[in-house]
Amino acid sequence: MISDVDQFCAQYDCAPSLRIEAPGRVNLIGEHIDYLGGCVMPVAIEPKVTLLVAPESDGGKIELWSTEQNDTKYKISPRDFAPRTIPKERWLNYPIGVMSAYAEQGVMTQGCRVGIFSTLPAGAGLSSSAALETAFALLIEELSGQSCSILERALRCQRAEHKWVGVPCGIMDQLSVGAGVKNHALRIDCEDQSIKPVPLPKGLNLVVADSGVKHALADGEYHERRRDCEAALEILHEKSWRNISLESVLKNQEALGDRLFKRARHVVTEMQRVNDFSDALINNQISKMARLMRASHNSLRDDFEVSCYELDVLVDAGFTFGARKGHAGSRMTGAGFGGSTIHLVHESIASNFIEHLGARYHEAFERELNCFLTQSSHGAHIRSLSTLKPAL
Ligand code: GLA
Repeated sequence: MISDVDQFCAQYDCAPSLRIEAPGRVNLIGEHIDYLGGCVMPVAIEPKVTLLVAPESDGGKIELWSTEQNDTKYKISPRDFAPRTIPKERWLNYPIGVMSAYAEQGVMTQGCRVGIFSTLPAGAGLSSSAALETAFALLIEELSGQSCSILERALRCQRAEHKWVGVPCGIMDQLSVGAGVKNHALRIDCEDQSIKPVPLPKGLNLVVADSGVKHALADGEYHERRRDCEAALEILHEKSWRNISLESVLKNQEALGDRLFKRARHVVTEMQRVNDFSDALINNQISKMARLMRASHNSLRDDFEVSCYELDVLVDAGFTFGARKGHAGSRMTGAGFGGSTIHLVHESIASNFIEHLGARYHEAFERELNCFLTQSSHGAHIRSLSTLKPAL
């Protein structure tokens, strides 16, 4: 197999001097509450986006080449941002959006040649977008010599996604990609934006299964859920979801009406589940963690209505494997409407578990399941390759 550095050299006829890596993430619990000021518990994972960079360019332009696009190279001027509308070029709005968010702060992107490599499937709910954004943010900071904090970087990337991609996402993905800690989940409080790493139990592995249903967040459902929650908050006469109890939601059932009642019930119960899950994780209470993940999935399926049949089949298959055999919890992860499920399993049975999920999925959908084992990973980082010689 040709190395990424050799591929870069073959494309650009020069050697890269920087390697930037940004991981994907799964969320263990706390879904659809980051944009409501809730707490969430994501984990950065091994699949990642890698940028190789040579800080030289043709007339100060930023040249982009991605392995996903064969030999096509795109040249972007660091001052003249224009949104890309042709479907196969839309992914460029992520790097362009990040460049624009930095330009708003007076930080211009220097000309350079960039190769983009990814082991993160796009549209699988594993934050490939946030990984690409964060990697570009690090690139801009390195070349301009103007670095910022992980939080500020995440906020700039979030702004890029809001303005340039049209997804009104919360801050969870960008923060987990930026702040991941090996062997830890992160407890992120999205109200005060504080981050606390919580150790993951030894011997537990993460299994990710791609439902095969691509989600497209800009399609409207995500916006609608946010709007529903804003409307419910108004009816509940509160400024923050953190002040609302389940009792108050139940008391206001009639005023909320069926749909908003269900949305509100998801929000307040999910906020409570994150607190309970984080305690269970600290105290190694595996069966409690599994119960909470089940309840979270059911609430996303029935009350928030963001699951789909494929995700439900995978989660049910996870639980039928059995706690006694080493299963420790399953749920959909990320925004839903397709995407992936996350499963916690004991390391000794991980390969049996993957086989079991694959068999159940094949029975239901007559196609192969894309499922993999992964460890937690550290957050996005940059490394100099200056000692590296170009391959001849
Ligand atoms: C997407 C968004 C996040 C979050 C999740 C749902 O991944 O980018 O901000 O809202 O959906 O929890």
